[in-house]
Amino acid sequence: MDYSYKNIREIYSHILKLGMLSPPEDVIATWTVFKNLSNITNMLELGSYLGGGLGIFNQLLHQAGHNGVQFVGVDHLDFVGAGARNRPGAWYTDHFNKCLSPEEQTTLKNLNTADEAANWIKERTLRLTGTPINLVCVKTEKELSDQQYDVIHHDYGDGVDENLRTIRHCLPKLKDTGIYIVDDWCTGAPLRTVATVIAQQEGLLHPFLWAKNKVFYAKNPARAQELVNAILKDPDNNPKLFKGMPGSEYFGSNYKTIRMHWQAIQWS
Ligand SMILES: C[S@@+](CC[C@H](N)C(=O)[O-])C[C@H]1O[C@@H](n2cnc3c(N)ncnc32)[C@H](O)[C@@H]1O
Repeated sequence: MDYSYKNIREIYSHILKLGMLSPPEDVIATWTVFKNLSNITNMLELGSYLGGGLGIFNQLLHQAGHNGVQFVGVDHLDFVGAGARNRPGAWYTDHFNKCLSPEEQTTLKNLNTADEAANWIKERTLRLTGTPINLVCVKTEKELSDQQYDVIHHDYGDGVDENLRTIRHCLPKLKDTGIYIVDDWCTGAPLRTVATVIAQQEGLLHPFLWAKNKVFYAKNPARAQELVNAILKDPDNNPKLFKGMPGSEYFGSNYKTIRMHWQAIQWS
């Protein structure tokens, strides 16, 4: 499957089928980043949900030449699985109705343990994407080992303190060359946005790409600039859609970030 901006419609239907909670523009941005990283072996997803994001990240990584990536998903299963059975009218229920078959909804309702969730996601990922996924799930961040990750996708948390706790707990698990992706930035989770600003002020996160709902960070300014340069030099990059921008002096002189012009992706 073509994950470039040229294929936004097909990417959109694939996302709907898998039940990933992201717009296609953010998947295109993730593809742009993944194809410019080398040697990705481990990825952590904070908020594995229906595994739609995991399935798509797995395919993106395969296609970018990163084979056999080991994924770890964290989800307390309060909003999915048996824990959600008695939560009528939740927004998530509407989403399940949109993207899960009646059989899938029945099996989802019986998930109790993290292992059951991992097996359910593995079966569904293979069936819907044709690409097997190596996945282990846990219910809480506290159960994570000292494993170091190349990529962390942060996709839960409401309040500022809660999100900062997650960032401070998980960032030490990111390799120095790794990338930290925050979802719902400035859209669904305003206080998560505030938490990332505080983390930037503490020198923990260094932005390098602003997508639609996702922001991509490196752990240090040098790595952020290396990634900006690699993406801008990528011959597949369309500079009208992924533009290098002079950054704020806050991160150092001549610090640049990339801004995705997602409206132009839709217009094209
Ligand atoms: C927005 S969904 C994640 C969507 C998914 N990443 C995707 O791309 O499709 C958030 C998930 O995080 C889980 N969750 C929320 N807060 C959590 C916490 N503190 N610890 C573990 N899981 C949590 C919820 O059960 C829910 O399934």
